[in-house]
Amino acid sequence: MSSSGTKEPIRIVITGAAGQIAYSLIHQICNGDVFGKDQPVILHLLDITPMMGVLQGVVMEIEDTSLPLVKGAIPTDSEETAFKDVDVALLVGAMPRKEGMERKDLLNANVKIFKSQGTALDKFAKKSVKVLVVGNPANTNCYILAHYAPSIPRENFSCLTRLDHNRAKAQIANRLKVSPENVKNVTIWGNHSSTQFPDVRSATVNVNGKDTPVYDAVKDDNWLKNDFISTVQKRGAAVIAARKLSSAMSAAKAICDHMRDWWNGTKDNEWVSMGVISDGSYDIEKGLVFSYPVQIKDGKISIVQGLKIDEWSREMIEKTQKELVEEKNDAVKATSSD
Ligand code: NAD
Ligand code: LMR
Repeated sequence: MSSSGTKEPIRIVITGAAGQIAYSLIHQICNGDVFGKDQPVILHLLDITPMMGVLQGVVMEIEDTSLPLVKGAIPTDSEETAFKDVDVALLVGAMPRKEGMERKDLLNANVKIFKSQGTALDKFAKKSVKVLVVGNPANTNCYILAHYAPSIPRENFSCLTRLDHNRAKAQIANRLKVSPENVKNVTIWGNHSSTQFPDVRSATVNVNGKDTPVYDAVKDDNWLKNDFISTVQKRGAAVIAARKLSSAMSAAKAICDHMRDWWNGTKDNEWVSMGVISDGSYDIEKGLVFSYPVQIKDGKISIVQGLKIDEWSREMIEKTQKELVEEKNDAVKATSSD
């Protein structure tokens, strides 16, 4: 707090700031929807040099929103300026996939961005910086970023699987004709890819004031084990096929949900999904960036322990882990050769 009793501004870097996700994201941050209605912000907006003209337009629009929490908006193509003293890093800037591609097809093009930005983060950001990687393939980009930022604590790194989490809630809510807020404790395990395991075995839905296991409420195990899972796994591709662009509005909303929960904590007895650096929980390779069920208190993320994993779930989890190990090995090769 400053002497006047108002909070000091926090510095937030948004990369890919001239892109489509950033365009949906920036207003929500400036409006206090993520870090609080009393939390002033200074935005560091990074994009590549050819996008500086477009970025100037974004800055004009930020000014024109006339929002009182905005204490500065710094457009830049310099990683040093972008990462200097930041409290929060939202790493969106990367190439999006086109129709027919898997997210891992972006690996060669995008992973080098995260090597370079990891090095800059390590050098210039606050050591307490909270980092969220959005650019795809998000888990593996986060792995590389963290590798090149060794001075920042491992628990400060995360990648976005909240969009998948929200998609899973929405599918269950639609099926049961209830509001998504009534669906709790879904889990996305593993990679933000078509091997992810959207798991509702511990999830509940509030029907007529009573929390009921999703399996009991849906009463269709076949749908839950097949169509539900593949719809969530392939939702990103379905949006691309329809829009000819990858999801942006829902991605920006998920970024806000992820960061708001990290900043303020999760509700008692509820968890959310986040890609975090594995500590070996649920027999996942230590160090992989893996999506887990997590709870957050006082800014500290804890992986929910003790959930029952049956044989079928173990196979689903193994499959997504295997893909992440392969991606990690490819990414390490791609970044060590330059
Ligand atoms: P976009 O093409 O509209 O914007 C990306 C921006 O990043 C562009 O302005 C580009 O110039 C910029 N950029 C490229 N290289 C950069 C660099 N080195 N430094 C800074 N900026 C750079 O794309 P988008 O729709 O905003 O999507 C961005 C990324 O987010 C894509 O990789 C997409 O696949 C991914 N995404 C992830 C999720 C998720 O849930 N994890 C959801 C949606 C999209
Ligand atoms: C999504 O899940 O919508 C994003 O990761 C974009 C994509 O490539 O699917």
